[in-house]
Amino acid sequence: MTTLTFPLRLGTRTLAAAAVPFLTGSRDQLSHYEKEGLVTPFESLGEFLVGLIEDQGIGDRVEEIQRFLELCIGSTSHLYGGRAWLQLSLTTHEPGLGLAIFNDKRTISQRFFSFLDAGNIAGPAVDLARELCRPFADSAYGQLRAEFRSGQPTRLSVYPGWVLEPFRGHDGFAKLFDKLPPALRDQPIIEHARALAAIQSPELYPYGVGVSLTPDAEAPELKIYTTRFDRRSSPLRGEGCLQSLLRQLGMAHDQLLEVHDLHDRLWQASATKAIQVATSISAEHPEPDRVSLLYCGVDSSAALEAFADAGISADAERCYEQVDRHLGSQRPMYVGVGIGQGGLNQRIKLYEAAFFRDTDVSALERLRPRTRSKAAAPQPPLLLPARQQVPGPGLMAAPGFIYNMARDVFPTMLDLRARYGDVIDLSGVGARNVFFVFGPEGVQRMFRDNSANFVRGANFRNVANVVGNGIVVSEGEFWVRQRKQVSAALTRSVVHTQVDRMVEVIAQMIEVLDGFAVRGEWFDVAHQMREVTRRITLKVMLGIDEDEETTNISKTWEQVYDALTYFTTRPWQPPLSLPIPRYRAFRQAMDAFDERIFQKIAEHRINPKAKGDLVRFLLNAHDPASGRPMTERQLRDELVTVTSAGFDTAAVTLAWTCMLLAQNPWAGHRIAQEANEVLGDRLPTREDISKLTFTRLVIHESMRMYPAAWVLTRTCVEEDELCGYRIPAGAMTITSAWVVHRHPGHWERPDQFWPERFTKENSKGRPRASFFPFGDGPRKCPGEPFALAEITAAIALMCQRFVLRLKPDHPIELEPSFTLRPRHGLIMQLERRANPGPNRR
Ligand code: HEM
Repeated sequence: MTTLTFPLRLGTRTLAAAAVPFLTGSRDQLSHYEKEGLVTPFESLGEFLVGLIEDQGIGDRVEEIQRFLELCIGSTSHLYGGRAWLQLSLTTHEPGLGLAIFNDKRTISQRFFSFLDAGNIAGPAVDLARELCRPFADSAYGQLRAEFRSGQPTRLSVYPGWVLEPFRGHDGFAKLFDKLPPALRDQPIIEHARALAAIQSPELYPYGVGVSLTPDAEAPELKIYTTRFDRRSSPLRGEGCLQSLLRQLGMAHDQLLEVHDLHDRLWQASATKAIQVATSISAEHPEPDRVSLLYCGVDSSAALEAFADAGISADAERCYEQVDRHLGSQRPMYVGVGIGQGGLNQRIKLYEAAFFRDTDVSALERLRPRTRSKAAAPQPPLLLPARQQVPGPGLMAAPGFIYNMARDVFPTMLDLRARYGDVIDLSGVGARNVFFVFGPEGVQRMFRDNSANFVRGANFRNVANVVGNGIVVSEGEFWVRQRKQVSAALTRSVVHTQVDRMVEVIAQMIEVLDGFAVRGEWFDVAHQMREVTRRITLKVMLGIDEDEETTNISKTWEQVYDALTYFTTRPWQPPLSLPIPRYRAFRQAMDAFDERIFQKIAEHRINPKAKGDLVRFLLNAHDPASGRPMTERQLRDELVTVTSAGFDTAAVTLAWTCMLLAQNPWAGHRIAQEANEVLGDRLPTREDISKLTFTRLVIHESMRMYPAAWVLTRTCVEEDELCGYRIPAGAMTITSAWVVHRHPGHWERPDQFWPERFTKENSKGRPRASFFPFGDGPRKCPGEPFALAEITAAIALMCQRFVLRLKPDHPIELEPSFTLRPRHGLIMQLERRANPGPNRR
């Protein structure tokens, strides 16, 4: 039997069975492994898949899955005794199923093309695949893959020469490319593949080449796989070739370090010490930008630790759970981690091989809608019809684009909208699958009309370092249930009961400001506004109102804020586990904040009358479905979410409003008049808030011009259409209230401060999604009533008492941080009004 010895690990054995069976000389690997009790076959493929498909929520793909298997599994390899030997893959964050079929017969590409033919799938990508498969006509081994995701076109791949028969050896790739017909050899995609293969081949063992395509795609992806089983000459060591490969891809040194770091950990977890480097080259994007590392035979608990250290544990755990549920004690055979231009993209794929005694898949019929008749129900097209190409800057504009975005993102975004329009494709400047959406119609679809298709996605995951699984990051059913409970604590009627306590804090601030006014002192209004909103939030939500403690928490929070900005504004950060000073400070700050939150929860458990509305509210809340209260951890996550969401957004809105009022003293004067009329010499009550109508117009205008949440992102789950342009599945869509709130098609004189534009009369005909300071749709800010109450009361009282003045020579710059802060603060002086109004009850 086998002449190679492998460590006694299941992953290794399955790897051996899958990847190098031809080396072993065995004709029936599975019988051998089964006899030895090393792998256990599943009984029925059909029954197995029914559970998996239901669990993954891909019932709409059942017909295709059945068709694919029936067509392609028919003549399974005699290597496996005629039984189905499948590789399944599950990907974090994307429910779906990948199926790979191995075959040792020389029919792998024929089967691939029969499947394409049966589905009437044709086009340039298919032609290229055909050409590429030709040199492998006598290949001894190959693989077919299909990935099925709900509502998305199936991704099909063929690896006709999986072990590059007959091209084995270090110059295998070169031999392959020489064999291609001249017309194909000259194609840019092949040129790139050839260049990449040339970097790899001296150090890596050429392992396979494949074509991957979605039906109708103009551009297929070419994938090159290389393997090294020897650690000493691992491509990730020393001057190894992955480094040069990544350099070639334009990846930063930092990214390399991150790759190294994860690699080191996974290496220890890997039983076989094998690395596979896969490079995808897409014809559309000549610069290859995706490298995946495939770790083989990785021990799952060690891998989970490695992921946890890399800060990506939650996703991996979820995926492992799914694998576990379906494959029982079997463990992933490979773990794949993709690295894009933005670093580790945290999209982890787990592969497991399984085999089945019975390959009949007719059990899948059960999942097919009963009423559907083939004639009556036309299949939805796999892709939306191709629309106009999305405009965007090209490669030549890349240096200028990158420089301008880094220097000053705000005018750059405005300029892009003016040049390219409402939807802009950034792939030309290196951000593949990233789109700016600056038209209200597109924003409306993202946030309201098809919000389920635009999820939080990868870039929110770093926010989870702060808020755990709080509602600002959670998704799906869980988010729906939590959101109901959290929103209930923030409704207008609840906020009404809190106005008195908010106003107490504001009145204290007015006294502090009065001191500045009397002394003629310059002060940073942005800092003061942060203090007041934090005090309000801590007092009302958590019941913390001692001065010293509030000041300490406020200082602590600055460090958390710093980290939040860092996490959300950089495409890549080193893993959180690294002992970087910024991270250390963040962790200490977070621990201190958490400790206080847990204390507060404990206080409320002992004394239900303890202060802190939000703690009380959430402690008493119950999951509407299960009737269960929140766990301690979830309670903490929601408390941190709500308090942190309320700290700075309201503060920057207040600060920018003060600036606008200093620049437009007439508006401050009108607010003062309104406050005198509505309040007289009282402090505002809940009833007064809605009567301060001009104050509200000014606040709206301030949020239009300086939206605290200046940028909002989503990930498009299934292919969609925004403003008439096709957005591919998986794309990141970025909108900016800063830009949309200045859209010349919807705003008259957008750069001018004109609060009356928000009167009912003047708002007629303006699309809803042209103004979204609080977001929109199901994810709309639940804290809006709270924020508007505190901001309205504070602005009315400030204007009633003071005239605001900006320090003339102090620079005013926007800082594109987590919220829209003034970079150098806003230095102001206050002057008491002649008839200030006592502001007392
Ligand atoms: C002027 C002040 C505020 C502004 C401009 C603001 C803005 C926003 C925006 C734009 C979103 C939606 C984010 C998205 O769609 O991705 C949001 C979400 C949220 N806001 Fe606010 N917010 C403010 C104040 C507050 C306050 C005071 C609280 C709490 C008391 C709060 C709690 C939240 C929460 C919990 C979410 C997440 C909702 C979810 O994802 O389901 N916000 N906020």
